Amino acid sequence: MLNNHNNNKDKNLWRGRLSESLGTETAQFISSLKEDARIVEIDIDVVEAHNLMLHKQGIITEAELAKILTGLEQARADWRAGKLKLDPKQIDIHPIIEKYVIDLYGIEVGGKTHCGKSRNDQVMTDVLIYLRNQGLGLSRQLVELVQVFLDMAKEHTETVMPGYTHTQHAQSTTLAHYLLAYIDVFLRDLERLGQIYERWNKNPLGACAFGGTTFNIDRKYTAGLLGFDGILENTIDVVSNRDFALEYAAALAIIAASLSRIAEDLVVWSTYEFNMLELADNLTDTSSAMPQKKNPCPIEMVRGKAAGVFSALMNLLIMLKGIPTGYNKDLQETKPPLWQAIDTVGASINIIKLGMGTLKVNEKRMLELTRKNHITAIDLAEFLVMETGLSFREAHFLVGGLVQAAIKDGLQLNQLPAKRFKMICRDILDRELEIDEAKFKEVTDPKLSIMRRQGIGGPAPVETRRMLKDRQAKLAEIEAALKEKENKLAKAQGYFRQQVSELRLK
Ligand code: ARG
Repeated sequence: MLNNHNNNKDKNLWRGRLSESLGTETAQFISSLKEDARIVEIDIDVVEAHNLMLHKQGIITEAELAKILTGLEQARADWRAGKLKLDPKQIDIHPIIEKYVIDLYGIEVGGKTHCGKSRNDQVMTDVLIYLRNQGLGLSRQLVELVQVFLDMAKEHTETVMPGYTHTQHAQSTTLAHYLLAYIDVFLRDLERLGQIYERWNKNPLGACAFGGTTFNIDRKYTAGLLGFDGILENTIDVVSNRDFALEYAAALAIIAASLSRIAEDLVVWSTYEFNMLELADNLTDTSSAMPQKKNPCPIEMVRGKAAGVFSALMNLLIMLKGIPTGYNKDLQETKPPLWQAIDTVGASINIIKLGMGTLKVNEKRMLELTRKNHITAIDLAEFLVMETGLSFREAHFLVGGLVQAAIKDGLQLNQLPAKRFKMICRDILDRELEIDEAKFKEVTDPKLSIMRRQGIGGPAPVETRRMLKDRQAKLAEIEAALKEKENKLAKAQGYFRQQVSELRLK
C-alpha cells in the first residue's frame, strides 16, 4: 500500500502509531506554521545539506539524491511563486517539505530524506540560521545608526546644552558628548551581537531526536555546507536548550531599552517647554481634534514597543524554567517572541535613525537653558578647593549657600556681585574669602566650563573630537568583522549551491 503513489497523497505518513487524525482545532492549537512561514527556504536548505551528506556517506544513492534535490528545488520555486501552500492539516513546515518530495518521487525516494535527523535538531538548525541572518542584518542597521550619530556629533562638538541628572540641571555639556554616550552603547550592542554570532554559529544538525543516530553521518560536512563555523556537539544539549534564544532576546531587549531612552529624550526635548529640538514633520502626527498638534507618535512608539521586546525575554525565561530536559513541544514557543522582538528592534532602529538624521537642533534655546539654574555650581566649588585650600565639603557647603542667596536675590549664581560673595563667605565660613570678579565670571560660565573639562571622556571639544575619531575607527573595525562574516557565509553558500546544481537531475 505504501508503495502506491496516489494512496500516499492523503495518508498522514507521520502517524502510523495512531489511528485517528488530529482535529482541526487541535492541529491549529499545536501548529507553528505561522512562524514557520519565515523559515521555509532555510528548512529546504537544511534538508538539502543533510541529503548531500547522506549521499556522501553512502546512505542514499546518487540517483536518489538527484531526485531529492530536484524535488526540494521545485518546492522552493513553488514557494517563491506562491504555489506551495502551508497545509493547515500539517502542524509545522518540516513534514510539508518532506511530503512534497514524497508526492513527487514516491516514498521509496522521498521517504529517505529524514534518515539520521529529526525535527528536533532540524528546527534548532533552522532557527539558528534564521537568527544568524537576522543578527547580521540588525548589525548592519546598527552600523548605519552609529554613523548617523557620528555625523551629527561631528557637527555639534561646540553645541552647548544642559546635562541632566534626576531630570534636573546637572552640568553643562555638548550635544556631541550626549551623542557619543549612545555611540558607545551601540558599539557595545554591536560587539554583543558579534559575540552571540560567534558562540552560536554552530551546527545542531545530526543530533537527531535526542541521542544521536546509528547512521554514519558527517556533521562537519553539513556544518560546512550551511556556513556554520563548528558543531554544537552534545546531542541532548542541541535538542533541549534554548539559551541561545535567551541571549539573543536579552541582546535585543538591551538595544530596545537604549532606543526607548533616546526616544524619551527626544519626546521631552521637543516639548514646547524645552524647545531644544524639533522633529521633522514626517516623523510626527497630528490630532483629529486639536489642529495645532505636532505629536511625536513614531518616537513614542519606539518607547512603547520596547515593552514587547522585554516581554519576549520574559516569555522565553518563563517558558523554559519548568520544562524537563530533552525536546518538549513547549520549545516551539521559542519562535513567536523572538520573531516579534526582531521585527520590533529592526523597525525601531530605523525610526531613531530617521529621527536623528532629520532633527532640527535649537542651539540658541539649548544655550539659553544652560545659562540658567546655576549649572556651574560644581565648577565654582572645585575652583575654590584649588584656589583657596578649602576642602571639597566646605566648598560644596559654601556654594550651596551662594546658590540659595542667588535664588533669594533673583539672580543666577554667576551674576552674584563680588561684595555679596564676600559677605556670604564670612557668614557661612566665618572667614574672609575674596575672588576676582572676572575670574568668578569665567569659572561660572557654562561654555568655558565645558572647555575646562578635558579629561578622558569629558565634554571638552578636544576630547569629544578625539573620541569621535576613535569611535569612527572602532566602527570601521566592527564593520570589517561583519563583512568578513558575510563573505564567509557567501562563500559557503556558493559551494553549497554549486553542489546542489551539480547533483540534481539534469
Ligand atoms: N515545530 C516544532 C518546533 O518548532 C518542530 C519540532 C517538533 N518536534 C517534535 N518532537 N514535535 O519546535
